[in-house]
Amino acid sequence: MKLQDKKVLLCISGGIAAYKINYLIRDLIKKGAEVQVLMTPSAEQFVSKLTLSTLSKNPVYSDFYSENGTWNNHVEFALWADVMILAPCTANTLSKMVHGTCDNLVLATYMSAKCPVFIAPAMDLDMYQHPSTKQNLELAEDFGHHIIPAEDGELASGLSGQGRMAEPETIARKIADFFQTNKTLENKTVLITAGPTYEAIDPVRFIGNHSSGKMGFSIAEEAANRGAKVILISGPSSEKIQHSNIEIYRVTSAKEMFDKVFEHYHDADIAIASAAVADYAPKVIAKEKIKKNDDSLTIELVKNPDILKTMGERKTTQFLVGFALETQNEEENAKGKLHKKNLDMIVLNSLKDEGAGFKGATNKIKIITESTLNEFSLKSKKEVAKDILNFVEEQILK
Ligand code: C5P
Repeated sequence: MKLQDKKVLLCISGGIAAYKINYLIRDLIKKGAEVQVLMTPSAEQFVSKLTLSTLSKNPVYSDFYSENGTWNNHVEFALWADVMILAPCTANTLSKMVHGTCDNLVLATYMSAKCPVFIAPAMDLDMYQHPSTKQNLELAEDFGHHIIPAEDGELASGLSGQGRMAEPETIARKIADFFQTNKTLENKTVLITAGPTYEAIDPVRFIGNHSSGKMGFSIAEEAANRGAKVILISGPSSEKIQHSNIEIYRVTSAKEMFDKVFEHYHDADIAIASAAVADYAPKVIAKEKIKKNDDSLTIELVKNPDILKTMGERKTTQFLVGFALETQNEEENAKGKLHKKNLDMIVLNSLKDEGAGFKGATNKIKIITESTLNEFSLKSKKEVAKDILNFVEEQILK
């Protein structure tokens, strides 16, 4: 059974789609899950606690206190769960979740949860299209939650459009798929560097680059889903991530990244350097903001430590992966780096390929090892992360 012994915390908010939750509970239980239902007070208008508790084989809670005076401990529910599903998630509950409002048991539990969170929104089509809903869904995604988009169809209002909660089978399948990912990296520690670095010129200015951090964050999430313990060391990036297997450290400069990497490198089984580390930093950081007095300004730059090269020098058993972003003689230069930095494999992305590289959500890569060269098509960075880790797994199992 696909969800054998998984603890599912199912949170219902007050939308008409709540009537479908009975089917979802049945499906989750059939797949082997243990289900605990919580509901917002307004959800009680739509489905009966008696039905929900009979199907889930557990009492159902909607308030901080039960009638007999006992406290329904939201922290305990949150810690118990392997996964939390908000279905249906109304515009109101969604908005409260992403803005930290915490005025019922479902929301307090959500704010205490460290497990993966799935959101199945359900609302009328105009509410679903409203900029605030769109923004709130984006925020939820930024928090690392999984959105199961509403589907097209007939709505309770009589209108027709996108807003219907995804069908219970779809929700159950997504949860099962999430857990089905083979835990191929269980017991492995993966260290990942991501994002740009900022090298201070003075208190207000820096030298940086356009790296978004998306590639490294995608690899971190995929490795964590495969059961690895992930140490993610990121330069300034607006990417967010939440996963119980991921420890994230945020740094600013190459030197800070260097120090953080070597606090953890000896524990790593796999190290993946996807950060776009600045090669040079100002020799002196001005204490005060530099004034624009002269027609020209010269800043002396000195070489930053090469984090990856040092990882190569200090390599014991780690499988070491570098990235290369080349503009000319791409394969030759990448292969040169593979040797120079003592890497086991290098991921080459070319600036010449449309949609590849730094800023976007897609990437097109070649993976080069001492004896192989594999070319991949343009894909989302999440898919590219899977290709990279599949390749790493193949190599370490050889
Ligand atoms: O030599 P180059 O900068 O092109 O190599 C790119 C690879 O080296 C990337 O994997 C990057 O994360 C890593 N790197 C590093 N420290 C530096 C420069 C690059 O870890 N100072």
